[in-house]
Amino acid sequence: MKDPLFEPIRINRLTLKNRIYLPAMHLGMCEEFLVNDRLVAFYAERAKGGAGMIVVGNATVDECSGNSQYIGAHLDAHLPGLTRLAAAIHENGAHSAVQLNHAGRYCHSVFLDGRAPVAPSAIASSLTGEVPEALTLEGIRSVVASFADAAARVKKAGFSAVEVLSGTGYLISEFLSPLTNTRDDAYGGPLENRMRLGLEIMGAIRQRVGADYPLLVRMDNHDFMEGGMPREELETYAQRLVSAGVDALCIKGGWHEARTPQLTPNVPRGVYGYLARNVKERVSVPVIASHRINDPAIARELIGEGWCDMVAMGRSLIADPFLPEKARTGREREIVHCIACAQGCFDHLFQLKHVECLCNPRAGHEEETRLVKSPAPKKVMIIGGGAAGMTAALAAHEKGHQVTLYEKAMRLGGQLHLAAAPPRPPGVSRAG
Ligand SMILES: Cc1cc2nc3c(=O)[nH]c(=O)nc-3n(C[C@H](O)[C@H](O)[C@H](O)COP(=O)(O)O)c2cc1C
Ligand code: SF4
Repeated sequence: MKDPLFEPIRINRLTLKNRIYLPAMHLGMCEEFLVNDRLVAFYAERAKGGAGMIVVGNATVDECSGNSQYIGAHLDAHLPGLTRLAAAIHENGAHSAVQLNHAGRYCHSVFLDGRAPVAPSAIASSLTGEVPEALTLEGIRSVVASFADAAARVKKAGFSAVEVLSGTGYLISEFLSPLTNTRDDAYGGPLENRMRLGLEIMGAIRQRVGADYPLLVRMDNHDFMEGGMPREELETYAQRLVSAGVDALCIKGGWHEARTPQLTPNVPRGVYGYLARNVKERVSVPVIASHRINDPAIARELIGEGWCDMVAMGRSLIADPFLPEKARTGREREIVHCIACAQGCFDHLFQLKHVECLCNPRAGHEEETRLVKSPAPKKVMIIGGGAAGMTAALAAHEKGHQVTLYEKAMRLGGQLHLAAAPPRPPGVSRAG
């Protein structure tokens, strides 16, 4: 029987070898917006590991759209690095895309040389506490043009596709939501007006990159914000994006300010698949599901039951870049699963550190930790089966040594079990 996870799929003119999609994850690795060796090695490893599509970014569209740790796509000076990154992904067997984003009021003035961030309306976000400047009509035109220019650079650099982030509480979704958009011009008020910026951006990109260049959008089908955008409106937006020429939709849930858990271990695996399914019922292009799809079995189930066409596996591929190859070759028991602790990856970003992983010490250090076979294999005894002991055992095994791992407890994992435990809800006592 065919494995639905490894069926090829078409997005516009592109054929992907499987249904595994590495979604955009800001890695905090760049300096001055420039691609560097660490970033290239990180993605080359994930391409080698077998994902069908690798989305890098998010990347900036102008100098106010993100801080300098993001991948830059707003200047021609960024082209050589982008070109090198696309080539490294392709050489290792995957297709590639860059996710473009404008962070809007989630930008902080400290990263904008003291300038205020921009947004549809001057309404502060609880994330930064800063009041943004409302974009003028000229400012909006400039943002639209910047997205189109950045998309043209992505294409010129050789990436297989371009993706636009239209969710999470960043600029395009700030225009969509009545919570953050109180404008009384053509970009505010009724849904038709609130969708205008997003649709204009996709139209401008389509015009620049041509009809046959794959254009994807990542969007929420629930913002999980009180008083936020009704889901019916988001579904209408999804349909309008497709009518405007978008070739695939990657569906996620939640703004950064939302209180509903999106990443933590108390999010059941695959639970937000329903958000993709509701969009899939309404559009004719491939739909990608996201969040906590950390195992091939869940991925197969979501695709096999028609809830989505592809699965975004983000942190799963930080924790184990070779998950796709292990699944394809019947070695699923060897997969190192992401435990959703967010401690090594997402939490690092708020400390302005690059992404690492509690379960995979090589993440973010691919080049400097490359393992080579030992010329003189030995018997190795490792005492302690916690995170350190287990990874040392794996590394020693990969180097060709004969390893015995000793652990006094009844199960391996040590403190990883604590890191993987769901957080206690507020107000619930330790005894409760
Ligand atoms: C470190 C980190 C950075 C992220 N950055 C982005 C981003 O730039 N763009 C985006 O659309 N999603 C971003 N996300 C969300 C992921 O793409 C994904 O939707 C989320 O991690 C849930 O999926 P997972 O459980 O498979 O990781 C980020 C997530 C993490 C952990
Ligand atoms: S640090 Fe934790 S949440 Fe992040 S990828 Fe690793 S195991 Fe997953």
